[in-house]
Amino acid sequence: MSSKPKIAVIIGSTRPTRLADKPAQWILKQAQARDDLEVELVDLRDHPLPFFDEMASNLWMPSQNPEAVRWQQTVGRYDGYIFVVAEYNHSITGVLKNALDQAYKEWNRKPFTVIGYGGTGAARAVEHLRSIGVELQMVSTHAGVHIGGSDFMTIFPMGGNKPVEEIEANLLPSAKTALDELVWWAKATMAAKAADL
Ligand SMILES: Cc1cc2nc3c(=O)[nH]c(=O)nc-3n(C[C@H](O)[C@H](O)[C@H](O)COP(=O)(O)O)c2cc1C
Repeated sequence: MSSKPKIAVIIGSTRPTRLADKPAQWILKQAQARDDLEVELVDLRDHPLPFFDEMASNLWMPSQNPEAVRWQQTVGRYDGYIFVVAEYNHSITGVLKNALDQAYKEWNRKPFTVIGYGGTGAARAVEHLRSIGVELQMVSTHAGVHIGGSDFMTIFPMGGNKPVEEIEANLLPSAKTALDELVWWAKATMAAKAADL
């Protein structure tokens, strides 16, 4: 059995003309190039969740909606997460917030990092995500990847519409640090959970 952390790249935007695929595919490629983790793409488009309509979080009782249960099973398969973060009105997208709300136990004591994009590299949305993560008993990496300013305009469809590779020299150092930290925390939390058994 592999002891490498299993990591999900979770795409936080589902709109048909989303930009999200560009940063998602780029960070997926960076993660796949490493030999210290296993990574898969998780697209919220494949999880058509209702707006949260349960009696309570699944901390308190099992969820009823089959899509919510399926989503919890998906989240539970991973040891850590890379969120692909769009910034909508200075926060995360509604669809990502709903997906975060639709699980609880499955997020607990697991790490996450981010690749954010927007005018300020989604810095404000990422800070919101980090405080949501505290409530979900998650640990955020210190580092994250932020595609902002002219880099964002270079890849933005209504800007230069270039591939992320065009600006990747600016992203590679933070991507390496963010993924190094993610693996460290994933191994640490996996070991602590194993010791608890
Ligand atoms: C409803 C909405 C709100 C937005 N608010 C912000 C914002 O607060 N800051 C920002 O940098 N970009 C903002 N944008 C622009 C997005 O960064 C840009 O549309 C990006 O492509 C969104 O990601 P997506 O295409 O993957 O959904 C907003 C876009 C939308 C649709």
